[in-house]
Amino acid sequence: MTYRKVISIVDLKKMKEDKKPITMVTAYDYPSALCCEEAGVDIVFVGDTVGMVVLGYDSTIPVTLDEILHHTKAVTRGAKNSFVLADMPFLTYHGSIDVTLQNAGRLMQEGGAKAVKMEGGTEICHSVKACVQAGIPVMGHIGLTPQAVNQIGGFKIQGRSLEQAQKLIDDAKALEQAGAFAIVLEMVPEELAQLISEQVTIPTIGIGAGRGCDGQVLVYHDLLQYASPLKAKFLKTYANIGDTIVEAISTFKNEVQNRQFPAEDNVFHMNEEVIERLTVSDEHVDDEWKE
Ligand code: KIV
Repeated sequence: MTYRKVISIVDLKKMKEDKKPITMVTAYDYPSALCCEEAGVDIVFVGDTVGMVVLGYDSTIPVTLDEILHHTKAVTRGAKNSFVLADMPFLTYHGSIDVTLQNAGRLMQEGGAKAVKMEGGTEICHSVKACVQAGIPVMGHIGLTPQAVNQIGGFKIQGRSLEQAQKLIDDAKALEQAGAFAIVLEMVPEELAQLISEQVTIPTIGIGAGRGCDGQVLVYHDLLQYASPLKAKFLKTYANIGDTIVEAISTFKNEVQNRQFPAEDNVFHMNEEVIERLTVSDEHVDDEWKE
C-alpha cells in the first residue's frame, strides 16, 4: 500500500487555485475503498448511488441514512488517508436544523466521514450554513439532482434555458456564501459549468458537465463497467470488470461440473496410517444417530 498525505478541504481549494484537477470516485464498501485509496483519488465518495448500483433500487430515493452510514463505515475502514465524503440521503436535511445536524453528525462521528454532500441550491443554504457553523464541511450538488428526479421528470440535462442557467449560477454563489467547500455540477452544458467554475472560488466537480470544472467524479461501477444499470453519453468506462467476473464464475462452474476443480494443488492430504486405522463400521455411532 502506497503512503499518501491526508487530503483536507484546504488542499482541495489549493488544487483549484493551482489549476490541478481534482479526482473523485464513489466507493461503497471496503474493497472499493482500498482500490480508490491505492489509486490515489482525492475524494472517495459514499454516494447515494449505492442504492442503484449496489442495492438494486430504481432511484436514489429509497436510500436511508442507516444504509449510507453502514457503507460509510466500510469505506472509512478501507480508505484511511483519502478524503471520505458521505451523501446525505433524501429528506435527511430538509426538516429541522437539529435533525439535519444530528444526521450529518452521525455520518462523521459514527461513519468517520470528513464531510457530507447535499443536493440543492438556495433552498438548502440554511442547512448548509448550520452544518458549516457546527464544524461539518458540506459539498453542494446542483444541476441534475437525482433525489429530485420525480420533480424534474427524469434524468435530464439542466441549465439549457436562460432562466435555468441563471438559477444555477445564483445557486452556486449562494452555496459558496453559505460556506460549502465545493459543488458537484451534474449534467449541465459545458459552457455553463465553465462559467460557474469561474464565478466561484470553491472547486466545482463535474459529472456530465464537460471540461471546464475543477475536478471530475465518476461512479465506481460505471468507471469499471461492473454490472451498472446506469448508461449515459458522459460516462467513460476504463475496464470491463463485469464481463471478467461473469467469465471467471462461469469457468469455476464448468471446472466443478467437469471435476477439474479442486485439483491436486487445492487439496489437503492425511497420513495413510491414520486412514488405515479409521473404522468405517457403524459400531461407534450412537444409536440415536442410526436410522
Ligand atoms: O450519489 C452519487 O454517486 C452522486 C454522484 C453522481 C456525484 O451524487
